[in-house]
Amino acid sequence: MNPDTAAIAREPQRVLIFDTTLRDGEQSPGATMSHVEKLEIAELLDEMGVDIIEAGFPIASEGDFAAVSEIAQRSKNATICGLARANLKDIDRCWEAVKHAGSPRIHTFIGTSPLHRAIPNLTKEEMADRIHETVTHARNLCDNVQWSPMDATRTEWDYLRHTVEIAIKAGATTINIPDTVGYTAPVESADLIRRLIAEVEGGEDVIFATHCHNDLGMATANSLAAVEGGARQIECTINGLGERAGNTALEEVVMAMKVRGDIIPYSTQIDTKRIMHISRRVATVSGFPVQYNKAIVGKNAFAHESGIHQDGMLKNAETFEIMRPEDVGLSQTSLVMGKHSGRAALRSKLKEMGHDVEGNQLQDIFVRFKALADRKKEVYDEDIEALVQAQGAAEDALELKFLRVICGTEAPQSADLTLTIDGVDRQVTAQGDGPVDATFNAIKALVDHTATLQLYQVHAVTEGTDAQATVTVRLEEAGRIVSGQSADTDTVVASARAYIAALNRLLVKRRTSPEGADTRAVSYKDTV
Ligand code: KIV
Ligand code: ZN
Repeated sequence: MNPDTAAIAREPQRVLIFDTTLRDGEQSPGATMSHVEKLEIAELLDEMGVDIIEAGFPIASEGDFAAVSEIAQRSKNATICGLARANLKDIDRCWEAVKHAGSPRIHTFIGTSPLHRAIPNLTKEEMADRIHETVTHARNLCDNVQWSPMDATRTEWDYLRHTVEIAIKAGATTINIPDTVGYTAPVESADLIRRLIAEVEGGEDVIFATHCHNDLGMATANSLAAVEGGARQIECTINGLGERAGNTALEEVVMAMKVRGDIIPYSTQIDTKRIMHISRRVATVSGFPVQYNKAIVGKNAFAHESGIHQDGMLKNAETFEIMRPEDVGLSQTSLVMGKHSGRAALRSKLKEMGHDVEGNQLQDIFVRFKALADRKKEVYDEDIEALVQAQGAAEDALELKFLRVICGTEAPQSADLTLTIDGVDRQVTAQGDGPVDATFNAIKALVDHTATLQLYQVHAVTEGTDAQATVTVRLEEAGRIVSGQSADTDTVVASARAYIAALNRLLVKRRTSPEGADTRAVSYKDTV
């Protein structure tokens, strides 16, 4: 019995949390994370109590392979899973990456619905043979094999049942039922799992999983309904990151089980107090900010605006709150931080927010905190978080020394910039179409590169015209993708720093990763 099945056998009401932020989440257009960021997120997921981490798609790129392998080697408690299409080469590559984990899993899939069958142009029989061959191969390599009929919710019932039976006979230990295009609804989702468990031969001996996309905004409801129907694994991502409208959000299913234990009587081993921290990290590294009104982790999820609500909250928080901010790791008794706060207060604040920083790292944040506090009356938790996320590394070759921009109604805008490059100051003036363009042109004039800008994103950390702007920049050069982030009350300065941070990473990546390291080379046609 593999460890996941054993956990369910011991506690029949236990639901396994399978997090796919690093695979399905990273598939969101523009959400590519760096190697180091993936390792960090995997570590946070592991510490948080996620049962299975889908760490990537090893055949997709050298970068994916390296990340899955290293996550497998570093994992402490979680099962580490990699994705593979239904061909032997993908499965071998996946096994190469996950085999170092204490508990490895291979996840292989094929699209079973009529629309998806048409792409590799297989008959139903040919596809069934392919499923048997690939799942058998995966099971010969690994004791823990997950199989998914992609687009299961639009697959003909008889064919779905038939293929699931084949996968179970070939040795799959988990059968995942994906609602790939977010088409199902809660009642249907529960019925489908219930029927599969009842009618598929061998259905009681495997774990059924649910994997829902959010195209109609029903992913969380559909996942919980599937659990009601007998699923014992929920596939989800932090902040609901994922293709198109995303996936079921981990924080939503976990908190729904916790808060409504009376009607959703299932449990997980997730430490919910870590939710806010990991949510913020994923938002930062993916470059996908969390929408303000997002359930559980949105900025407004615990904010009360109206007088009636505020009055009620002061008398009894339960009048308008069904969970406490502390339950998800939001600190209640915030220390008010300002320009008189010292290093000890900052360290304690950072600790409260889940960052254990000391030495040079603390000193660096402290210096930037003081500079910010001089410019801003109140320094909020979000401001401090932004300072942490925007740290530079000691070995950075490029540093911004000076920037002055002339902008306004009269074009052209121009930027006067000094960069310290490997310890030497270099100065340039450049023009552009707006202040950011002028600044980026100045940087380009001093740093030799051919990278193209894939993403430039700005968002205000807090309210008010003195709010810090967090800027994310993503660059691509010869198939190497890097991103940089910075925060400042001056949007143009934050933009320059974010661009420079990305270039610093690119300089390192040119030495450490081959060309094409982050370019995905998979296509659906290669399924067979
Ligand atoms: O949505 C989907 O069908 C998937 C599969 C690869 C499981 O992500
Ligand atoms: Zn998916």
